[in-house]
Parts: sequence; C-alpha cells; structure tokens
Amino acid sequence: MIVCVCNNISDREIRQAVDLGISSMPELRRDLGVGTCCGKCVSCARETLHEALEAK
Ligand code: FES
Repeated sequence: MIVCVCNNISDREIRQAVDLGISSMPELRRDLGVGTCCGKCVSCARETLHEALEAK
C-alpha cells in the first residue's frame, strides 16, 4: 500500500527503513522524503512507523 502518494513511498519501504535502523519521523522524512510535500500522509506514516517499531 502506498502511504506517501507524493513521494511514492509504500508501507513496505517504511518497514524496510525501520529494519535498517530508522526510529523516528524526522529520520523517515530525511531519508525517504515521507511527508515533505502535501503532508497528508504524516499520520498514516507515523502509525506505520510505530507498528514497525513495535514489531521489531
Ligand atoms: Fe506524503 Fe503528500 S502524500 S507528502
């Protein structure tokens, strides 16, 4: 599922980023560009990030 339409980032890519050591929204923003355009994806991206961190 695409989380960030503007930057074409899927939940899978967010999970992969967490596996590689990302643990916060600022890091996700910096490394993948999530939420850097319209910002509509931020709450969904945050939820996906936290789920991935909990599953670690
Ligand atoms: Fe992510 Fe627009 S959908 S910044």
